[in-house]
Amino acid sequence: VFVNDIVPPDIEPTNDKKMTALRPPVPTPPKNIMSFISAFKSAQRDLLSVLPEVVYKTYMGKHRLGLRHVYIVNDPEMVRHVLADNVDNYPKSQQMYRALTALVGDGIFISNGATWKRQRKMIDPAFVNVRLRRAFPSMMQTVEDFIDRLKAIDPQSEMKIDEEMAHVTADIIFRAIFSDKLTKEVSNAVFKAFADYQATLPQLDFMEMIGMPDWFPRRSMHKTNLAGQKIRGVIRSLIEARLNDQSGRQYDDILQVLVDARDEETGAGFELEELVDHVGVLFLAGHETSASTLTWAAYLIAQAPDIADRLTEEVDRVWTEPQLAYAQVPEMKLTRNVFRETLRLYPPVSFITREAIAKDEMRGYAVKPGSMMVISPWIIHRHEIYWERPGEFDPDRYATPSGEASYRKSYVPFGMGARVCSGASFAMTEGTLILAALMRNFRLELLNPEEILPVCRLTTRPSVSPRFRILPRN
Ligand code: HEM
Repeated sequence: VFVNDIVPPDIEPTNDKKMTALRPPVPTPPKNIMSFISAFKSAQRDLLSVLPEVVYKTYMGKHRLGLRHVYIVNDPEMVRHVLADNVDNYPKSQQMYRALTALVGDGIFISNGATWKRQRKMIDPAFVNVRLRRAFPSMMQTVEDFIDRLKAIDPQSEMKIDEEMAHVTADIIFRAIFSDKLTKEVSNAVFKAFADYQATLPQLDFMEMIGMPDWFPRRSMHKTNLAGQKIRGVIRSLIEARLNDQSGRQYDDILQVLVDARDEETGAGFELEELVDHVGVLFLAGHETSASTLTWAAYLIAQAPDIADRLTEEVDRVWTEPQLAYAQVPEMKLTRNVFRETLRLYPPVSFITREAIAKDEMRGYAVKPGSMMVISPWIIHRHEIYWERPGEFDPDRYATPSGEASYRKSYVPFGMGARVCSGASFAMTEGTLILAALMRNFRLELLNPEEILPVCRLTTRPSVSPRFRILPRN
């Protein structure tokens, strides 16, 4: 194992801390670079806690891990090189494939090459702006149901905001896909199966990281496969119900876009199992990520009373009718910036990985075929060269020239390039709406801030469930 980090010579990180700013705690980084073998062993507990301080100060790290070279890519130009400009040389790595294939087959999140190109073309129409505008009233209705559920909770009792956030975001994506509300039976079945799925997944596939060939014996995926099959079963029956629907009802939802999608060249539509793959991806990608961001946003707001007051003032000024209109969402700039800043500090997808096909060069270093490229929104967003006061929660930073420049160059919660998140606008809209609805109705009190640290699971989550009290504002 060798470790070769490149520390830039002359750049002093600016770390002049604002006196009042909130600096939420993070795992204490090891002081020097540990052997990567032991680091990755402990990464089964939590990958974030093994990142040494130096990764937040380097343009690039090059490491040898077993049979493989691993590059940690932070420099914005190189990030662009891998994710956008030279995308054909850097397909998605097998790492993610193995974790998700039992659930989503060869669906869009993990597919590559011609398969991915065809899928993306056929799926994109579901996310264009117009459709988002059409989906908004249903999003609004779902958020009203969410607020009603929260109002029914005794304000003196403790509540688990993470569970409520998972419920509302699952309900939103479910209605966007199927038009109907998430029923209790489906929601219980799916939530339980998703939890089982995640619980059985290793955080990182160690054998994959060190480049062991496919035939090498690996940890059994039996339990993961079973949980994946269960979720697919529920999704399949919902899709079959649509395909067999004789009622004449006109559907204007994501499933209908997928059912109607045709390959430009062959005219073929998606097969049933492909539809199950895509609905599975959209359901998974579309609620876990948003739910964890919203939980972190509540955690941050509860600890920043000045921001909470300003959010309340903003929502009262903009949201004056019983329902908010789609066109009013962009007027809530602070709310949007709080969601944006939460995505910076707690990007749900902390590590994006790619695998080099052909040889290449990075900052003068030869990149061999088979090398793994790690682009980490977690590292890049907390990078001392690319961000001022990176550890501070400061939603106003985006209105400053330096913050705006960092945002343009080193803000990648949704990835970048051809494979950028299809649901980014959807997520920004629902995130802003849910936060606004929360601040319009409640004051948040966090009871256990000192117990909470971020850990990396399938998404970046709190180490223990945050305990909240939500007090009605009026
Ligand atoms: C805060 C919320 C979200 C975050 C942080 C997020 C993040 C990401 C990231 C980082 C990727 C790219 C991964 C890579 O390049 O390896 C991605 C891809 C994707 N996301 Fe999201 N996502 C979010 C919400 C959503 C929503 C709401 C949907 C759907 C409704 C969605 C659908 C997708 C799809 C389909 C892809 C695959 C695109 C492709 O490979 O062509 N995401 N997401």
